[in-house]
Amino acid sequence: MPLRARLAAGLAAMLLAGPAAAAPDPALLGDRQAFIADLLGQMTLDEKIGQLRLISIGPDMSRERIANEIAAGRIGGTFNSVVPADNRAMQNAAVQRSRLKIPIFFAYDVVHGHRTIFPIGPGQASSWNMQAIERGARVAAIEASADSLDMTFAPMVDIARDPRWGRTSEGFGEDPYLVSRIARAMVRGYQGDATSRRDSIMASVKHFALYGAVEGGRDYNVVDMSPMRMYQDYLPPYRAAIDAGAGGVMVALNSINGVPASADTWLLQDLLRRDWRFGGVAVSDHGAIKELIRHGVARDDREAAKLAIRAGVEMSMADELYLNELPGLVKSGEVPIADIDRAVRNILGAKYDMGLFHDPYLRIGRAADDPPDLYAESRLHRADARALARESLVLLENRNRTLPLRKNAILALVGPLADSPVDIMGSWSAAGRGTNPVTLRQGMEAAMRGQGRLLYARGANVTDDPALVEYLNQLNWDTKEIVQDPRPPAEMIAEAVAAARRADVVVAAVGESRGMSHESSSRTTLDIPASQRALLAALKATGKPLVLVLMNGRPLDLREASATADALLETWFSGTEGGNAIADVLFGDYNPSGKLPISFPRSIGQIPTYYNHPRVGRPFTEGKPGNYTSQYFEEKTGPLYPFGYGLSYTSFSLGDLALSSPVMARGGRIGARITVKNTGDRAGATVVQLYVRDESASVVRAVKELKNFQKISLEPGEERIVHFDIVEDDLKFFNARLEHVAEPGAFEVQIGLNSQDVERARFELH
Ligand code: NOJ
Repeated sequence: MPLRARLAAGLAAMLLAGPAAAAPDPALLGDRQAFIADLLGQMTLDEKIGQLRLISIGPDMSRERIANEIAAGRIGGTFNSVVPADNRAMQNAAVQRSRLKIPIFFAYDVVHGHRTIFPIGPGQASSWNMQAIERGARVAAIEASADSLDMTFAPMVDIARDPRWGRTSEGFGEDPYLVSRIARAMVRGYQGDATSRRDSIMASVKHFALYGAVEGGRDYNVVDMSPMRMYQDYLPPYRAAIDAGAGGVMVALNSINGVPASADTWLLQDLLRRDWRFGGVAVSDHGAIKELIRHGVARDDREAAKLAIRAGVEMSMADELYLNELPGLVKSGEVPIADIDRAVRNILGAKYDMGLFHDPYLRIGRAADDPPDLYAESRLHRADARALARESLVLLENRNRTLPLRKNAILALVGPLADSPVDIMGSWSAAGRGTNPVTLRQGMEAAMRGQGRLLYARGANVTDDPALVEYLNQLNWDTKEIVQDPRPPAEMIAEAVAAARRADVVVAAVGESRGMSHESSSRTTLDIPASQRALLAALKATGKPLVLVLMNGRPLDLREASATADALLETWFSGTEGGNAIADVLFGDYNPSGKLPISFPRSIGQIPTYYNHPRVGRPFTEGKPGNYTSQYFEEKTGPLYPFGYGLSYTSFSLGDLALSSPVMARGGRIGARITVKNTGDRAGATVVQLYVRDESASVVRAVKELKNFQKISLEPGEERIVHFDIVEDDLKFFNARLEHVAEPGAFEVQIGLNSQDVERARFELH
């Protein structure tokens, strides 16, 4: 029996038996390539073009109309629908009513958790704990697949070096090595052992490529970048995700050196397919094909569709250009059918890999098993969320050992973010519901129960700027982002000050609302908004010890906050269990171990501040007059808090760094070892970071680059020798001809507990 007929028979049997009762039959679908070729051979042009369409399901769309479109073979997949019953109805239309019974897939932005929300990207990256990050993605896949989803638009691995960019909150910071490690961990977590497993979802790495480098940090702006920098710093994380097996790639909205990514044949074919051997599916970003007209490279819809399909954008997200234009373009010969076939092959391949041809209802399940309350609180994964959230917190200052706090003290908790469940989830919090998160107030109350007293006063709104409030409230259709306290600011501050006066210590939760660090939320300042700064000034005037708990999606300008506060804890947006995790750290039940994955500039004028910048001919040298060196004269040089930095309640010391040999042979390796000692009085964890500096090369190299790290825990007084292997690959870089090479010569190894304070040793590559 030909494969198609066997498939039809299998599906018919499946449908007779009821969807979930169908057992995947490996014999029926054993040969992926032959199966897809056979199916492709039976498709009409319109059916092929239908597969290229990925539609967004909005709350007020007609379900009947969508089902009819699916039945007509005009839709390949949907996103933004997370209700199994809804997706079952759509899948029914595909496999019962469409001619070829090709299943559709269901995608969603599961970026940092699905129902249980994990910390946002920079928070997860601050943990430097790859197992915990992988586990977070695994949990997200378990929950999302249970909600009938097959694909996520994640991980988002855009290198971010300009915190003005709101989407800094979605990625994992500024460093190619750390972000690449995380990219791999996330893909493994989402996809599990195989994308065809019931509890796996396919990862679509985004935004390919270089979206984090938009000029001026302004969202959707252009990217102009040298090929060397691209290869060295910005492309590795996407590559890492693809090498880890990501089944999808989302094409970025930006242009690169004059060519929009969605029309970039070099990017999508030469680099992605030929050089990187990507065999999955390339999906456009929202409306990106039509935007080729606004970029000014396409005259009209027809030309936009032609450019995108020819470049290699296979699925069009949320526009109808392919649907409307490709039939004519193919008939006129302007688009070869081979381009359409290639796209369809990859889409069918993705569906095959998701297991949907074996069982279209794999993740939808049976109606009888649908959860009675889809939005019920998920308790299952809270321990995982709390564990990762604790590790994501970065202690930036702790003067006079203000932290940890005593639970039997009288504490004043103030600030607009202290009791804001929506904000603590962070942007892109998928199917997380504002009723589930533990706020800081709830977390502290639970920790102090039966002991001291917690006095709460809101103290300020996130902002008093009505235009900003209005803007933020339009960002999402299902949540009102900002709920303003209508009282006059002076009254709110007075209430907070009164609480502070009665307290032993004041804890102020300040920063950004989650909508301020989001897609389309680029900023011209990195300030804590004025309403909150006024609150902080009033609290400072009480003379009470002041702990700032920062919630934000990007590095902020913390000069003033750092001078005002006795302790400063960066908590990003820490997710469903955020309030408990922060309380764990504030009260010392967990000793903070987070390390910054992105430099915190002193001021916005210093941007970019990334640690691994290229060397210059006149570097600024600490301690010497700065004239005629690379610096800004009104400000101290260097970041306020460097990459890799974070304090602990204990202290650590580093011994001398020793190398196993002063020479590395080609293809060889040398060992680096260093003793790390916990010199304080508490058990604690820290991240031992290994950097390499290429002393001289054929092109200008970075001042240093992270090449490895280990997170270790030590008891008080305990010391441990930490070993690293350095191999030739760690010394490689992209030269002026874009060859990945290690050049002979001197290298400096640096090991530290942040990127600035390091032990050094040198060796030569022969
Ligand atoms: C636009 C965003 O740029 C992208 O990250 C997201 O996946 C899509 N919208 C779908 O929501």
